[in-house]
Amino acid sequence: MHLETLSLTGFRNYRSQEVSFAPGLNLLSGPNGHGKTNLLEAIHYVCLAHSQRTRKDKELIEWNGNAFVLRLLGRIGGLAHAQSVEYAETGAKRVKVNGRESKRLSDLIGHFEVVSFSPEDLDLIRSGPQLRRRFLDILLCQFSLDYLDTLRHYNQALKQRNSLLKQAGAGNDVLAAYDAPLVEAGARITLMRRRALADLAPLARDCYRSISDGGEDLELALSGCVSEAEEEPALREDFHRKLLALRGTEREAGLTLAGPHREDLAISFSGKAVRDFGSQGQKRSVALSLKLASARLLDARNRRPPILLLDDVFAELDETRRLRIGELIRGQGQVFIANPRAADLPFQAEKIITLRCGRVVV
Ligand SMILES: Nc1ncnc2c1ncn2[C@@H]1O[C@H](COP(=O)(O)OP(=O)(O)OP(=O)(O)O)[C@@H](O)[C@H]1O
Ligand SMILES: [Mg+2]
Repeated sequence: MHLETLSLTGFRNYRSQEVSFAPGLNLLSGPNGHGKTNLLEAIHYVCLAHSQRTRKDKELIEWNGNAFVLRLLGRIGGLAHAQSVEYAETGAKRVKVNGRESKRLSDLIGHFEVVSFSPEDLDLIRSGPQLRRRFLDILLCQFSLDYLDTLRHYNQALKQRNSLLKQAGAGNDVLAAYDAPLVEAGARITLMRRRALADLAPLARDCYRSISDGGEDLELALSGCVSEAEEEPALREDFHRKLLALRGTEREAGLTLAGPHREDLAISFSGKAVRDFGSQGQKRSVALSLKLASARLLDARNRRPPILLLDDVFAELDETRRLRIGELIRGQGQVFIANPRAADLPFQAEKIITLRCGRVVV
C-alpha cells in the first residue's frame, strides 16, 4: 500500500500543486513556514477525513479562497486506488472513492491507514482525556469499520440522551428508551478499546524501551470504565445499572455521566502517571512510542504497514535517539518525514521533495 500522487488545490498555502511520492521514505524539506506540515496535513485529511491540527475544516481553505480539493492516487494490494475530497466554505463536501460519490466524509477512512506524529502530540500525555480517547478512536477506526459505525451510533445516542436530560419534563420512561442504544453501543466500544489496548500495550512498552535504551516500563490501561466485566452482556448490565443509579444526578447535571465518553487511557511507569511525574523528554518519547506502537498494531491487524507521517520528529533529539528512531522507522513501508534539513536524517531518503511557498521546487 502506498500513495503515488496528491494534487492540492486551494489547500492552506497550496494554490495548485501536484506532488508525486516514492513508495519508501520521502523527505519533505524546505525552510520554515513553506508548507511541509501543510502537505502532511493534506495527506492526513484525504486518508482519515480530518486534520491532525484543527477541527475547523474551514481553516484549511486557502486564505481568500472558498473551497479546497485534494485528489489522491495510490496502490492498495497492487491495485490502483483513487479518493478525493472537495470542501467548500459553505460546509458542503464531496467525497469520491474510486469514482463513486459518497456523502459521508468518513467514507475516506479505512483504505489508506495512516499514523502521524508531530511535536504537538506531546499534548497526548499532558492534556485532558479527550485527546487520548481520540487517539484510541482514530486507531480503532482504522482497523475496524465496525468500530467506526458503533462509535457513530454511540455519539448519536449520547447527543439525544443529553438533550433529553436537559428537558425538565422528560419522564423516566422516555429516558429509559434512550438508555438501550447507549448501553448497547457503549459496551461494545469499551470492549473493543480494551482488547486493542491489550495488544497495543506490549508494543508501546517495546518501542519505549528501544527509544530510551532500557529505561522505565511503560504501562497502558483503559481507565474510567463503567465496569471491569470482560463479556459484553455483563458489561451492558453493569452500564445499565450505573445509569439507573445516576438518574437523579444526571438530571441535575443535564448530562450523561458514565460511559465510553468518560474513559481515559492511563499512561504510567510502574503505576505512576507519566503526565504527573514524567520529564519533558520522557513524555516526548512516550508520545512517540504510542504512535509507533499503533503503526505496528495496524501492520499486524491489517497485514500491511500503515503510512507514517512524521513531522519534525528529530527536533530536540540527540544523535543516539535519532539513530534509534531511525531503526524503528526503517523498513516500515511508506514514510513521510518533514524536516527543514536533510542532514538531520539518520538515513537516506528515497525521494527528497523540496518545498518553497507552497510549491514543489524541481
Ligand atoms: N489557510 C491558509 N491559507 C494560506 N496560507 C496558510 C493557511 N494556513 C497556513 N498558511 C501558511 O502556511 C505556512 C505554514 O506552512 P507549514 O506549517 O506547512 O510550514 P512548515 O514548512 O511546516 O514550517 P516549519 O518548518 O516551521 O514547521 C505559513 O506561512 C502560513 O502562513
Ligand atoms: Mg512544520
